[in-house]
Amino acid sequence: MTTTDSPLHGARVLVTGGAGFIGTAVRDALRRAGARPVLLDNLSAYEPATVALLGTGRHDPDLVFGDASDNDLVRHLVHDADFVVHAAAHSTVQGCLADPDTAFRSNLAATDTLVRAVADSPSIRRLILLSTAQVYGHGDPDTDTTRPRLFTETQPYQPLNPYASAKLWAELHTRQLLTAAGRDFTLLRPFSVYGPGQVPKPGAASWVVAQFTMYAALGQELLLNGGGRQVRDFVFRDDAADAIVRALTAPGAAGRTLNLGTGVQTSVSEVAEHVLAHFPGTTVRTAPPAAGDPLGGRADTALMHRVLDWAPAVTVTEGIARYVDWVRSTPAAIPPWMRAETSDGRLAAWTAPGPAVTRPPYLDQPASSCNGAS
Ligand SMILES: NC(=O)c1ccc[n+]([C@@H]2O[C@H](COP(=O)([O-])OP(=O)(O)OC[C@H]3O[C@@H](n4cnc5c(N)ncnc54)[C@H](O)[C@@H]3O)[C@@H](O)[C@H]2O)c1
Repeated sequence: MTTTDSPLHGARVLVTGGAGFIGTAVRDALRRAGARPVLLDNLSAYEPATVALLGTGRHDPDLVFGDASDNDLVRHLVHDADFVVHAAAHSTVQGCLADPDTAFRSNLAATDTLVRAVADSPSIRRLILLSTAQVYGHGDPDTDTTRPRLFTETQPYQPLNPYASAKLWAELHTRQLLTAAGRDFTLLRPFSVYGPGQVPKPGAASWVVAQFTMYAALGQELLLNGGGRQVRDFVFRDDAADAIVRALTAPGAAGRTLNLGTGVQTSVSEVAEHVLAHFPGTTVRTAPPAAGDPLGGRADTALMHRVLDWAPAVTVTEGIARYVDWVRSTPAAIPPWMRAETSDGRLAAWTAPGPAVTRPPYLDQPASSCNGAS
């Protein structure tokens, strides 16, 4: 399809959180589709050097520097848009626990501000909300919690932390207000998005591909929390952006809640093995489990494949290789706080007295029981 044939050709698309890791990939995909992205971002997530690596910043003519909870600003931007992608969030569990005020403003107040503006704007053709697969938590409590599982859109929610709870609220609020207003929307639940451009945030336990690669590049040990038996469904950044852009115009996505995953599960210890293949000599140490860290699983992708006519293009092996290449060619991406750390210091911080660590149930099972199908 040429750009002019694209259903998004010439469309104005407001991307909140547009200067972030996924937002900038969505921007690039929108440009390829001939759309005109406008990024709204308060640049709160990263150092300016990281924002520059993502190809934006205060100088960017496509970026509006501001807060997604600013009612007047959001209404002005929504009024001028045809579509909205809501990616702005205080987007780590640890960040939400450490700074609940910011989490409330960015994850709850901003969503309310944006959704009410969209409800009042007949020009908006669809809003995409980026929720999270974390709304599933450990998964259905009535099934075996010691094995990785398949997460299906219709199964019960079980958010385990304030970040996941806020996202679940955002889903329900969006559905209720926009249904009442007669506006179109799609709720997407991304699994673990990774790829070039991803820079870990201090204190956050997520983004294991980025963390392991950068620690290996620094010659530090890789710490496998709970032995690395947790599994995740890793989605390459460009594949995720492609799915998000398809969701803007796919007729079958109207009013839907859709997973955004690959259907393939990879354990954290397998991620370490992939990284070690690029950095032989790196050592790996088992560390205590993280409190409330779910065993995880993979997305049921049947609905999203059908509705979005989408399939991932990049395997985990290829995606990690591309990420390693990016870090090697962009060493400045490794943030100063990571360079200042040591393996022993990280382990000591991890094991220091803090909130009680709940032993995840899967740790009491033999390792082989975590490797089968869910
Ligand atoms: N990366 C993943 O694996 C993943 C998985 C599931 C869901 N998500 C969701 O996808 C979205 C994008 O994630 P990401 O990985 O790009 O995160 P990110 O932190 O890189 O991007 C979020 C952006 O939102 C901006 N922001 C935060 N609060 C804001 C506010 N009040 N006003 C304006 N801008 C604000 C930040 O500055 C940042 O640029 C988030 O909603 C996140 O919760 C991400």
